[in-house]
Amino acid sequence: MKSLKLQIFRVTPRLIIRPLVLEDHENWRQAYSSLRPALNEWDESPWDDKELTLQKFKQLLKMQRDRRIKDSYYEFGIFRKDDGVLVGSVNLMDVSRGIFQNAYLGYRVFNNFWGQGYAQEACKAAKTIAFKDLKLHRLEAAISPENKKSIQVAKALGFHKEGLSRKRLLVNRKWRDMLIYALTK
Ligand SMILES: CC(C)(COP(=O)(O)OP(=O)(O)OC[C@H]1O[C@@H](n2cnc3c(N)ncnc32)[C@H](O)[C@@H]1OP(=O)(O)O)[C@@H](O)C(=O)NCCC(=O)NCCS
Repeated sequence: MKSLKLQIFRVTPRLIIRPLVLEDHENWRQAYSSLRPALNEWDESPWDDKELTLQKFKQLLKMQRDRRIKDSYYEFGIFRKDDGVLVGSVNLMDVSRGIFQNAYLGYRVFNNFWGQGYAQEACKAAKTIAFKDLKLHRLEAAISPENKKSIQVAKALGFHKEGLSRKRLLVNRKWRDMLIYALTK
C-alpha cells in the first residue's frame, strides 16, 4: 500500500497529475522563474534564482516524499500532456484518517496559464485521487471570500459552501476569515 501511494498519478484529456521527480528540475525552475508579477493577492511573483537550485529542488522532493510516506500530505505537479510543461500544482493537504477521512484541497495554476480550465481539470483528477486512490471520504477547501476565481473552481467541482470560518488562517501576518467549501464522496 505504501509504495502504491508513492506512485499515484492521473491522466486527464489535457493534463498529467503526478508527484514531481528529479528530472523535473529544469521544468520547475522555468515555471517559477517565468511567472508574471503577481496578478492578485493569492498569486505568486517570479521566484529568485537562488530559490530554484537543484539543491533546493532535492530538498523539496525529499519533503514531499516524506509527507506521502506518512500519508499526511500529497503534492502533485500539473503537467500539460502535449509538451510536458509544468502549469501548476494541486495538493491534498493535512490528511486526517480515523473517523474524519478528510483532506484539504489546494490548487494553483501559474499565472501565465490562467483562464484555460486547467485548475478545474486538474482538481477533478485530484478528487479521483482523493476518493479512489486514497479512500478519503471528504474534501474541504478553505477559500478567502474575495477570491472569486477560486470560488468558481470549487463550485464547478461540485463543492458546497458550508460557512465562514473566522480568523482561520494566518496569511501575510494577519488572521483571515475563510469560506469553507466541502465535498463528500
Ligand atoms: C484560482 C486559480 C487556480 C484558477 O485557475 P484557472 O486554471 O484559471 O481556473 P479554471 O480552471 O476555472 O479556468 C478559468 C476559466 O477558464 C475557462 N476555460 C477556458 N478554457 C477552458 C477549457 N478548455 N476547459 C474548461 N474551462 C475553460 C473556465 O470555464 C473558467 O471560466 P470561469 O472562471 O468563468 O468559470 C488561479 O487563478 C490561481 O492559481 N490563483 C492563485 C492561487 C489561488 O488563488 N489558489 C486557490 C487558493 S484557495
